[in-house]
Amino acid sequence: MQQAEFVKESELFFRQWLRSPRSMGSIKPSSPALARAIAEAVVWQPGRYVVELGGGTGAITQGLIERGIPRDRIVVVELDPELAAFLGRRLPGCVVVPGDATRLDRILADLGIDDVATVVSGLPMVRMPFDFQKAIVEQGLRALREPGTMLQYSYSPVPPVPARRLGIRAELVRYVLRNLPPATVWRYRRAA
Ligand SMILES: C[S@@+](CC[C@H](N)C(=O)[O-])C[C@H]1O[C@@H](n2cnc3c(N)ncnc32)[C@H](O)[C@@H]1O
Repeated sequence: MQQAEFVKESELFFRQWLRSPRSMGSIKPSSPALARAIAEAVVWQPGRYVVELGGGTGAITQGLIERGIPRDRIVVVELDPELAAFLGRRLPGCVVVPGDATRLDRILADLGIDDVATVVSGLPMVRMPFDFQKAIVEQGLRALREPGTMLQYSYSPVPPVPARRLGIRAELVRYVLRNLPPATVWRYRRAA
């Protein structure tokens, strides 16, 4: 990314954080190192989809593209209309959906997509209400077709959701020091 674009991306992210700190969850986009860690943990086979929840300015999406996932197999859901518009410009060819990730089932049905290999959530989860956490985890896991995986990155050293109460297992798959703040990558599975 050119320096001018990087500044524009960082400014937009920070401005949206000033407007809605809880929903943004961070003052700056994820680092390329975190994007690579996520991309390496993604499960994908040709023809299948990767769904990203909370695209922001596209830092993680860029990692998915660099991993070789075709743009037309990447669906990015972003609640903030200004960020969704930015994503549409930054990521031509990707399927960018301005919308609420808690309605993922409806979004995928409207797109006619039923073969999702990986759901990546960059949504802030730690201090969110239980109903929100439940909706995201349930919608994400329900969207997957086997073999599939749901990944969540967070700044929390412990699982970012109350796994047992949600009936899932949250497994720490990576930690990434080269991110501000350092990040953890979690994989969610239904409890056996
Ligand atoms: C921590 S930022 C992550 C942004 C980007 N993926 C990154 O890693 O740089 C969280 C993003 O989730 C979006 N978001 C929050 N709630 C959402 C929801 N219910 N549905 C979709 N996106 C949401 C925010 O607008 C924000 O862009």
